[in-house]
Amino acid sequence: MPSRRKFLHSSAAGLAGLAAAPLAAAALPTAPAAGPPLVISTWDAGVAANQGAWQVLHGGGTALDAVEAGVRVTEAAQSCCVGLGGNPDRDGIVTLDACIMDHQFNCGGVAALERIKHPVSVARRVMERTPHVLLVGEGAQQFAVAQGFPLEPRQLSPDAEKAYREWLKTSQYRPVVNIENTGSHPVGPTGGANNHDTIAMLALDGQGRLSGSCTTSGMGFKMRGRVGDSPLIGSGLFVDNAVGAAAATGQGEDVVRMAGAHTVVELMRQGRSPQAACREAVERIAAIKGPKARDIQVAFIAVSARGQVGAFALQAGFSYALCTAADQRQLIAADHLLK
Ligand code: GLY
Repeated sequence: MPSRRKFLHSSAAGLAGLAAAPLAAAALPTAPAAGPPLVISTWDAGVAANQGAWQVLHGGGTALDAVEAGVRVTEAAQSCCVGLGGNPDRDGIVTLDACIMDHQFNCGGVAALERIKHPVSVARRVMERTPHVLLVGEGAQQFAVAQGFPLEPRQLSPDAEKAYREWLKTSQYRPVVNIENTGSHPVGPTGGANNHDTIAMLALDGQGRLSGSCTTSGMGFKMRGRVGDSPLIGSGLFVDNAVGAAAATGQGEDVVRMAGAHTVVELMRQGRSPQAACREAVERIAAIKGPKARDIQVAFIAVSARGQVGAFALQAGFSYALCTAADQRQLIAADHLLK
């Protein structure tokens, strides 16, 4: 009888054999001539993340390497909403979602991944070393370990522990919009900050290749097994090199129900600017939610194949970071719908 460990190794090897070859550029539409390299990402944390990505682009690296390196900066920081320092689910366990997509429709994601520091890098391995696009839960962790990612201790960061203990006093889910910008784990009067946000990043390299990444610990104190938009290609992230790329942040359920990032890219395909496409997608969410739109935050960032950027939020308070050769540390307050 083969041992379980041997089975995992041999099945990983078998899967590697089955893994689809990267999609061939020849079969895809040609990208329009691109502008200079750039990186755009969500929230204030994006300024530091963009620096990680810019080092790659500045050295002549690919957009794909840039978006992985960039969000790893945020995953490694002890933030409330991304990586192992994030708020746990309602059972007290941190579960992570991430995805990545390149300029040739190659993509990979992980959902509900536990005890792995860099889910975006596991997502990239899913893309490059398996025939699949999404691995979840225990299977995602098995794959990560088989790929050499260390299992980190199962323990909450001090801030997450404090927030979780406070939340347990009421165990009620009452989101506080834009809590992401407050810098730590504030606890509201109702007993919890209930963060549910993400870093999403898009990059255009000097060869005109677009790529994107998303990574998050998801909604704080979520139900066990809950998956948001961030690991789902077409919801949290979509890239079509002939048109542009888009990514989402905010309440994942409301991004998933209208296939947010894909919608933004399709609106750009119809001729909208990145800004106008982000706005129209937000307007659709507002129309779907009706008066309940005031209870949530959702925002999109987008970049066209030519390097035009845009962003739009449902509510005030969303900022995004833009990095170009001219200015690598821009933090811009996005326009918003609800006044
Ligand atoms: N946008 C992140 C989430 O809802 O999980």
